[in-house]
Amino acid sequence: MKLFIDTADIAQIREAWSWGIIDGVTTNPTHIANSGKDFDSVLEEIFSIVDGPISVESVSTNAEGIIEEGRRIAAFHKNAVVKVPVMIEGLKAVKVLAKEGIKTNVTLCFSPLQAFLAAKCGATYISPFIHRLDLVGHDGGELIRQMRQIYDNYGFQTQILAASIRSPKQVLDSLLAGADVATMPFDMLRALYQHPLTEDGLQMFLDDWKRVPPSRLFTSKAGA
Ligand code: G3P
Repeated sequence: MKLFIDTADIAQIREAWSWGIIDGVTTNPTHIANSGKDFDSVLEEIFSIVDGPISVESVSTNAEGIIEEGRRIAAFHKNAVVKVPVMIEGLKAVKVLAKEGIKTNVTLCFSPLQAFLAAKCGATYISPFIHRLDLVGHDGGELIRQMRQIYDNYGFQTQILAASIRSPKQVLDSLLAGADVATMPFDMLRALYQHPLTEDGLQMFLDDWKRVPPSRLFTSKAGA
């Protein structure tokens, strides 16, 4: 499963990219607004850091406008993916953009039927919003399982991009349900590394090492 970072915070993107686990970035209008920077310069910075698919959201609500924005986003950089809301006008635009070879990420997906329609129109990615579903008493993991089954039943190539992830359990659910990609905030990526037994175990090894006589092998090594 690929991992994307879901933010437009440049410092966080730079740091997560340095860890070697990031395959791409997803943004949305909220992330761009929260970055405190103008749209063009924040995009330039993100594309200069990450060499992988980067989703940029269209903001028009009619197909004509979305298509025009989509073409501009695609022309901006070879790694650009056009994010489009799952609605009639959005999917009309996705169909046209797909025929032009422009990659799309259909967003705000909350049902397997929406995912089916997006795939029919040639979406590259479909983004089910897992945590927002869990918050209203539904089961985001079950949505991914149903989408996986529908796509596998009919051979759809659209990639399932689990989005709106706020807990490690939702990442595990995404992996087990067969999502192709999961996107999440910086803090969630960092949380995936953590386990209290790892921290306790490391501390014990470091404490015990103090009882070992000085070694020639480790003397004057970098980072000692
Ligand atoms: O990719 C989904 C993300 O942009 C929005 O999700 O629920 O974390 O705001 P959320």
